[in-house]
Amino acid sequence: MTTDIVYKITDSDIIKAANIIREGGLVVFPTETVYGLGANALDPTAADKIYKAKGRPSDNPLIIHLAKASDAQKYCVTNEDFYKLAEAFMPGPLTVILPKKEIVPSNVTGGLDTVALRVPCNEVANALISAAGVPVAAPSANISGRPSPTAPDHVVEDMQGRVDMILCAGECDIGVESTIITLVTEVPTILRPGKITLSDIRRVLPEAVLADAVLNKFEGKPLSPGMKYKHYAPRAEVVLLDGEYSKIKAFLSSQRESGILCYDEDKELLSLPYALSVGAKDKPDEEAHLLFARLREFDSMPQVKKIYAPMPDREGIGLAVLNRLIRAAGFTVIEID
Ligand code: TXA
Ligand code: MG
Repeated sequence: MTTDIVYKITDSDIIKAANIIREGGLVVFPTETVYGLGANALDPTAADKIYKAKGRPSDNPLIIHLAKASDAQKYCVTNEDFYKLAEAFMPGPLTVILPKKEIVPSNVTGGLDTVALRVPCNEVANALISAAGVPVAAPSANISGRPSPTAPDHVVEDMQGRVDMILCAGECDIGVESTIITLVTEVPTILRPGKITLSDIRRVLPEAVLADAVLNKFEGKPLSPGMKYKHYAPRAEVVLLDGEYSKIKAFLSSQRESGILCYDEDKELLSLPYALSVGAKDKPDEEAHLLFARLREFDSMPQVKKIYAPMPDREGIGLAVLNRLIRAAGFTVIEID
């Protein structure tokens, strides 16, 4: 398939992309979190194309992207909690899970009777969804299992030849995927942490909790099918290091053969052959913004067989970074003392 790649998006590109979506094709588009791989969410054949292009297991459901929160009741059974979240956080990097309505094809929800909904605030995403006039099903636009794409190079690398059109708009602001919260459990439960944190959510839903699986390996049936798959993984093996940062630095200083994730302040480490910075140590937003790009950079270093990363701080968006890294590491954590 020939892929139309656009680097400077005009109104007519949006119209063209919207037509492709309406006609059952695939369009990669930017969002404030990561790039998405979009198709008409009401067309089961189009949704099937998403699973095929990504190489994604068909039981792992897709998020439906809407132009405005008030459209949600067409596709799911909304409740008071939903409208509280919508009022506080939409449009923005939040995905909410609710009971699905009949109109949503079952392959979009991986056979589940619930559906995930999100209203992105990225300008291009919003213009595209509005122009398409249909809800847009979109997972992250990476090949299944790879780090999510946060820059044009990433989507071109993974999706050229697999989709009809790619809309490039530079680097995604946030860099980690949306916070996912389910409203079908006894209390509202965060399944995937993101820029919007548990304490943000508790301002409107004080009883909200974090799912155990956010930081622990799932046991039994996961609340979200995505939790059971290895994720965000570069080619090399990722190992997380826990302990005092000065001791972790001492350990890393002898790792000349390995990939190292560290911070701008770690000048000595950064002089090692395969060390990359994820920004300033006290700036978790930078770390989130850079994380997936750095993991992908290691893929272009064939010598690197192992990547060491210090445990990020769990505060704020740090929890989202930790959640992605611990999955990239397949839950391998080494204590350094
Ligand atoms: O920021 C984002 O959310 C990005 C952008 C493109 O919007 N999208 C994204 O989609 O990260 P994806 O498909 O890569 O991740 C969606 C996750 C998957 O782990 C999936 O299992 C879970 O959401 N999910 C979707 N529908 C669900 C449902 N009905 N119940 C439980 N989990 C669901
Ligand atoms: Mg994904």
